Amino acid sequence: MDSEQAVSLEARVDDLLSRMTMTEKIGQMSQLNWDSTGLHQAVRAGRVGSVLNLVDVQETNHLQKLAMEESRLGIPLLMGRDVIHGFKTVFPIPLGQAASWNPGVLAEGARIAALEAASAGINWTFAPMIDITRDPRWGRIAESLGEDPYLCKTLATAAVRGYQGTDLAAPGAIAACAKHFAGYGASESGRDYNTVNLPEIELRNVYLPPFEAAADAGVATFMTSFSELNGVPASADTFLLKQVLRKEWGFRGMVVSDWSSIPQMTTHGFTSGDRDAAFAAANAGVDMEMASSTYAAHLQSLVDEGRIPESDIDAMVARILQLKLRLGLFDNPYTDPADFPAIANPAHLEAARRAAVQSCVLLKNDHRLLPLSAEQPGAIAVIGPLADEAREQLGTWVFDGDPQYTQTGLQGLRTLLGERATIRFSKGLEHSRSKSHEGFADAVKAARDSDVVILFAGEEAILSGEAHCRADIGLPGHQEALIDEIAATGKPIVLVVMAGRPLTLESVMPKVDAILYAWHPGTMGGPAIADLLFGNEVPSGKLPVTLPRMVGQIPIYYARKNTGKPANPETFVHMDEIPVNTPQTSTGMTAMHLDAGFTPLFPFGYGLSYSEFKYGNISTSAAAIGPGDSIRISAEISNDGAFTAEEVVQLYIRDLVGNVTRPVRELKGFKRIRLKPGQCATVSFDIHTDDLAFYNRDMKFAAEPGLFHAWVGGDSNAVLRTEFSIAGQL
Ligand code: NOJ
Repeated sequence: MDSEQAVSLEARVDDLLSRMTMTEKIGQMSQLNWDSTGLHQAVRAGRVGSVLNLVDVQETNHLQKLAMEESRLGIPLLMGRDVIHGFKTVFPIPLGQAASWNPGVLAEGARIAALEAASAGINWTFAPMIDITRDPRWGRIAESLGEDPYLCKTLATAAVRGYQGTDLAAPGAIAACAKHFAGYGASESGRDYNTVNLPEIELRNVYLPPFEAAADAGVATFMTSFSELNGVPASADTFLLKQVLRKEWGFRGMVVSDWSSIPQMTTHGFTSGDRDAAFAAANAGVDMEMASSTYAAHLQSLVDEGRIPESDIDAMVARILQLKLRLGLFDNPYTDPADFPAIANPAHLEAARRAAVQSCVLLKNDHRLLPLSAEQPGAIAVIGPLADEAREQLGTWVFDGDPQYTQTGLQGLRTLLGERATIRFSKGLEHSRSKSHEGFADAVKAARDSDVVILFAGEEAILSGEAHCRADIGLPGHQEALIDEIAATGKPIVLVVMAGRPLTLESVMPKVDAILYAWHPGTMGGPAIADLLFGNEVPSGKLPVTLPRMVGQIPIYYARKNTGKPANPETFVHMDEIPVNTPQTSTGMTAMHLDAGFTPLFPFGYGLSYSEFKYGNISTSAAAIGPGDSIRISAEISNDGAFTAEEVVQLYIRDLVGNVTRPVRELKGFKRIRLKPGQCATVSFDIHTDDLAFYNRDMKFAAEPGLFHAWVGGDSNAVLRTEFSIAGQL
């Protein structure tokens, strides 16, 4: 927006505000669900600023008409909806999209979601969710972009641009929402809505950077979290909302509460009732209340009593009106679906297929079992409760996702292989939680009669997402028993995991030959998986989150601290190997679990290819740089394998000494490159000293002089290392 536009926008807002009654102002601050009693009348009376969850375009147009033509001031409505990973064309769950490490995938997924949703009259989505989480028990890890602030902020920026485009008023652009502000992903024990305790330094260094990046990218709105942070529910957190968001980051967009999170502050034990809660939220600067009505019931009297200054109300309403103006709603509040590309059209489906291809992570591929031969596929047993589940593979929180467009794994394989293959399908288990072995014999027979088994296991969609947390994150039901029986046939097994979170798969590992982690891959998961398994595509996804061996290791993440007694691979002895009567201190006294060791099953950033990438010749442009300078870190990557393939080249650094201790590694850059067999490339990363800054003990954001290590490689265990310094004195 140029300055002239900003002035005219402000003038229009001022004009409207000058004509609004307090009831109308509070009306703008109220968002009602589409099925609220008396909605039409409330819209006519100017008592609603936004409607939630309406996707029938005739009805959205009708409500807009009531707002425009029958309310006194003709203010259009914000139409909000959770369009989290696609509207009708469903993309992989956000965690899966994050596994692509490709901002382009996020941007395109968001753009298509926006286009399809806008064709139903939606002009505001509650995405992206950018809560860092290091707890796979938490069901909402599915909606997240993983454990790392750098990866998350890079992908979040892309998603915001995808939803909003460069001009919110352009057709098909919708307002995005950075949620949930803040700290929600650190809910104790991975239980949703649970208590969050985060020291400010951790909050600022790990949990806030994606939100700041979203604000910098121009995200139109923020949503507060359901959770409390250090004793204060987020919807009343003046530190977060006033100090950090408004003052430090200068965010001028709009803040919405989460669903009834304002009255829930009383349940938290923070406010004494709705009136108190309305005061606390308005006082913190929550501009709009979602679903509940404490603002409608109490703001007027709070203003009358002088507890909330009218100027505060005006500032909040102004932010809402500004968004409506920026969306162009005053000029064009109506939607004609004919102005939009068709829902789930071939281009959208192809984009969803590409996203799913890049989201799948190859974790294991013994004896190069994959890719399977598409020319001579032989007989294939397709087994498992998730092989042909159109709805389940869409994943969590897809209210509009339509299984009629889904292509399942089984369908994908059938379409790809046609008559060339004999496909024997046997579910084995009715669903992922089933404990009935009734279908085992048939599945075993299918395996015996085939050359190879493709086994689709994991979690149904309902086992992840909001309020769907698990304490045991192994394969549910008797899926592992099914794998045992299939493995006993001796046939090679390709395990395709469809899940909304990292699962603990250590015990499954030796029983299968290959593992492709597909997350919940969305509408086009089937063709994507078939293309990957049969070599039309080469896996290139990388884990956006650490895969633990067992639940007791959680939280386990790559950017850990070293501790004063780091685990030592040389002295580690598993508890089963410790002789009886061993003296207490003889096992090394280091930071490890006697039963799980100290390493994850797979590290952050990990993912195999069918090709082979070799890293070498790491260098820096200087041995030392001064504050404010940049350094270039380069390495050579060659494709020594037989496939043209993509690799995500990753840069990690370690700041060896800090005013506060620093993580053993931090991701500072990544690039996705494509190399032909035999091809070599030099990949460079330019790092400014600001990129090395962190919040220190005095809560100052600064880079510190001293020595840094830098690694370039294909995952967070990269071994190719160099070093450099920032010159100067602390
Ligand atoms: C509650 C969820 O926490 C939030 O993410 C979502 O946008 C709202 N409900 C609206 O559905």
